[in-house]
Amino acid sequence: MPLPGEVRVLSDPEAVALDAARWLADRSASDRPFRIAVSGGATPRLLYETLAAAPFSEGIAWARWHLFFADERDVPPDDARSNYRLVHDTLVSRVPMPAGQVHRMEANRPDLGAAATEYAQLLESECGRPPRLDVILLGLGTDGHTASLFPGSPALDVADAWVARSRAPQPPFDRLTLTLPVLDRAAHVGFIVTGASKAAALRAVSDGSVPAARVKPHRGEVVWFIDEDATRPRDAVR
Ligand code: 6PG
Repeated sequence: MPLPGEVRVLSDPEAVALDAARWLADRSASDRPFRIAVSGGATPRLLYETLAAAPFSEGIAWARWHLFFADERDVPPDDARSNYRLVHDTLVSRVPMPAGQVHRMEANRPDLGAAATEYAQLLESECGRPPRLDVILLGLGTDGHTASLFPGSPALDVADAWVARSRAPQPPFDRLTLTLPVLDRAAHVGFIVTGASKAAALRAVSDGSVPAARVKPHRGEVVWFIDEDATRPRDAVR
């Protein structure tokens, strides 16, 4: 299936998590600070748990990691639907990553516009202007969204801000999301996509018709880590 980037088809979600963990360990192996933005949802849980276990837990220099979010939902950080909570519980709390280097998106603030502006300023101070992240990990929704860039969302066309507010078609409705200008400046983008429910969305990406197809780093690589089930079509894009 022609996707925009390198495509790695693995046998199952466990093999995807292992391959993506190795890829991340390689990308973070240097003496420099490693700046990464991660996604939520159900799919990356296995990857985060894999990173938090041996051999990765011991082999990665966690003190150099600076962790940001690709998007966040309008829920408190201890809510089960919070992307921060997922990453905290499965990874951050299990490895020696300095707490001050984990930067939650505060999408549950009453003034979402101010929260977006402040996160954009944080990105500039930590990752340069314009911000260039070493790695951005993304997922794929069944409608072809990625981060919180949903089909038809005005956030998709934001060209002059690094972070935007967005509305999801299902609750939690209010979101904060990185914008395409930041995604397109990353050095490496990894999409983690598993399960037959994603097959139609992957086809829509290869047709170029959904938001995830618009991620095209100017000077960076894109790798699609997908399992065999995701290559076997069952449903149509919803
Ligand atoms: C979010 C995500 C989002 C996610 C996709 C896939 O906060 O919802 O960051 O972009 O990656 O919706 O989610 P699943 O892995 O749950 O299918």
